[in-house]
Amino acid sequence: MAVYDSFARFYDRLFAPAERRFLGRWRQETLSLIPEGSRLLELGAGTGANFEYYGSPERVVSSELSCEMLGFAAVKARGNALIQANAEELPFAADSFDAAFATLVFCSIPRPELAFADLRRVVRPGGRVVLLEHVRPPGLLGMMFDLLNFATVALIDDHFNRRTAEVAVSSGLRLIENRRKLAGVVNLIVLENPE
Ligand SMILES: C[S@@+](CC[C@H](N)C(=O)[O-])C[C@H]1O[C@@H](n2cnc3c(N)ncnc32)[C@H](O)[C@@H]1O
Repeated sequence: MAVYDSFARFYDRLFAPAERRFLGRWRQETLSLIPEGSRLLELGAGTGANFEYYGSPERVVSSELSCEMLGFAAVKARGNALIQANAEELPFAADSFDAAFATLVFCSIPRPELAFADLRRVVRPGGRVVLLEHVRPPGLLGMMFDLLNFATVALIDDHFNRRTAEVAVSSGLRLIENRRKLAGVVNLIVLENPE
């Protein structure tokens, strides 16, 4: 993806203050919701900011669309497989994984409903999907995000008013829990692929 190809070399430096203040903690919380020993898939792994929190899955495949982002991720890899892939067309057989997760990714996937459909295909029935995403918050703030969205989509292909939990549920995933953070601007969404 063009935006992230040009963004890749600045990404870690740009996010470093947020990582220290809250993002690192939220990443850890996200990964703690993945059952141990899972065959795990990460979508949109970026520069590999989650790798240090992977824990002890049976095996991990870290997928990412941008080749430049993947180049930075490769330096941080710790036995996980890296693969260039579009979340809307995952190159895996059905039921390949017990769990999948993504952090800060569904805001930039053009057609999230296609990514959810493919997640439902590659994660086995009964498997878990965990997302840490910035979303459209409730109330007045939500309306401000609707306005902000015009600028963020035009400038960086980032949708600031996505209702990601709702899209996941309408794609057939079952919502287990939604932990709202920062007045609902960030959601930690725990889902299950129904049996
Ligand atoms: C904000 S970054 C988040 C990176 C990483 N997950 C993190 O938490 O630091 C969004 C990432 O999603 C990736 N991405 C966007 N659309 C994608 C798609 N259709 N398939 C796979 N990855 C995608 C981008 O290339 C980028 O690396």
